[in-house]
Amino acid sequence: MTQTHFWWQTGVLYQVYPRSFLDSNGDGVGDIAGITSKLDYLRWLGVDAVWLSPIYPSPMADFGYDISNYIDVHPLFGTLKDLDTLVQQAHQRDLKVILDFVPNHTSDEHPWFQEARSSRTNEKRDWYIWRDPAPGGGPPNNWTSLFGGPAWQFDEQTGQYYLHMFDVKQADLNWRNPHVRKAMHDVLHFWLDRGVDGFRVDVIWMLIKDDQFRDNGLNPNWKQSDDPSKYQDGRYTEDQPGIHEIVRDMRALLDSYGDRVLIGEIYLPVERLVQYYGEALDGAHLPFNFQFVTMPTWEARAIRQIVDAYEAALPQGGWPNWVLGNHDKERIATRVGREQARLAHMLLLTLRGTPTCYYGDEIGMENVRIQREQLQDPKAKGNPEHSRDYQRTPMQWNALANAGFTAPNVKPWLPIADDYQTYNVEAEQHDPRSMLMLVRALLERRRASPALIIGSYQSLDQEDGNCFVYLRQHNDQRYVVALNVSAQDQVVKLPGLGQGSIVLSTQMDRVGPLDLSEFHLRKNEGCLSQLPHG
Ligand code: GLC
Repeated sequence: MTQTHFWWQTGVLYQVYPRSFLDSNGDGVGDIAGITSKLDYLRWLGVDAVWLSPIYPSPMADFGYDISNYIDVHPLFGTLKDLDTLVQQAHQRDLKVILDFVPNHTSDEHPWFQEARSSRTNEKRDWYIWRDPAPGGGPPNNWTSLFGGPAWQFDEQTGQYYLHMFDVKQADLNWRNPHVRKAMHDVLHFWLDRGVDGFRVDVIWMLIKDDQFRDNGLNPNWKQSDDPSKYQDGRYTEDQPGIHEIVRDMRALLDSYGDRVLIGEIYLPVERLVQYYGEALDGAHLPFNFQFVTMPTWEARAIRQIVDAYEAALPQGGWPNWVLGNHDKERIATRVGREQARLAHMLLLTLRGTPTCYYGDEIGMENVRIQREQLQDPKAKGNPEHSRDYQRTPMQWNALANAGFTAPNVKPWLPIADDYQTYNVEAEQHDPRSMLMLVRALLERRRASPALIIGSYQSLDQEDGNCFVYLRQHNDQRYVVALNVSAQDQVVKLPGLGQGSIVLSTQMDRVGPLDLSEFHLRKNEGCLSQLPHG
């Protein structure tokens, strides 16, 4: 099995938001040494790779997604040496380390931008996207920032606007300029040479913008209370001609190092998403598949439809992947409730393809309510409802003050969840039926089961639409996954399958023989059953 598959296909990824994982030096913000001290936890849990959201020097206007130096570490997080130690310690434990690469924009405090804005003739001027005001004055076109408001900022000194698709302090780089490409490739080399195992590339689908700067269309259904990123259709700012060549170049660079991974952040409909594998599978290894994150209703039919359509749309040889949550979206336990979140993890960890877990989801962390005055996310400026702080609160390690995230007398950068005394790693490690022990058991079973890692996938019909049922098979190993995506008991009928054996229920209270021709699932229950060797 492992001879023909790469680690990023057989393994499970785990996203750490460094500010919120563990604070080792008592400043209220998580850091690299904190992450290193928890590598044994990640190994115990059973994941294979950790992806770190940005750890680079940054004024923190967007909490590290506004980078002022691509080849160093922010002192808040530690030093380059700390990062080297993390990589080395991770590798010792057979864990991979993936960094966040943010090529779409730099901080306005990056020396490149400082130079670029100094005069119209500066040699770095064209590294960014500058335009004259519209003929009658005002911004050059109608493009809006994904955080709300115009995407153009007027620069008094040189009398032009610069483009920022996100915060005003995140100036978009001009990827049509070969010097920009070269500089960003140098950044990739820098980290690959230090031994990192790959990158998650931020907003990869937006790197190129329309060269005629045509107006975007407006989303006719958008309401004031909706997410500002949905205000326009992005037809001239997203997924533009030329993007695949850029992705291909990054991939070729990574390939020259051997076994590294290129993951792309992409929010697009599935037909366009899968194009990011590249025509000759020479694009991203894993174009992030966010369909479970963006789906409007958590419902069995919708889940099946998503999985089947995605499987059908994948290019030959393209490897699937699944995500339940990240630092930009409401946590899974908040979206679907804690009981369904258990089932969602059974789904995530038994589907075909690489799963990505978001820190804290394994203990059932929910979005935390935060007072308006304490909100920090730049996206919250226009509308607190769209703040992403709620899903970025400190990891809950134990029942001590500050949940063990930081020293008891320190104020963490974001508040800790009220219910941390119940939902934390230590408490859940002592409760055999906790969410944490379920996730760990799922990971353990997955690791030991070729059918779950590389087996085929086939959905199975059910008369009643509340359960999602599928088969995973590799050689003579077969599993049936039956998920009751409802709050009522359900009956599942699989007449052809005969006798099986439950190996894991999301409620962690039953194992053993199961007559698959007809069986019951309790409300919110998912069951993983093994079939006799076929
Ligand atoms: C991506 C990141 C998000 C960030 C934005 C701008 O969507 O995931 O957190 O704000 O890019 O870099």
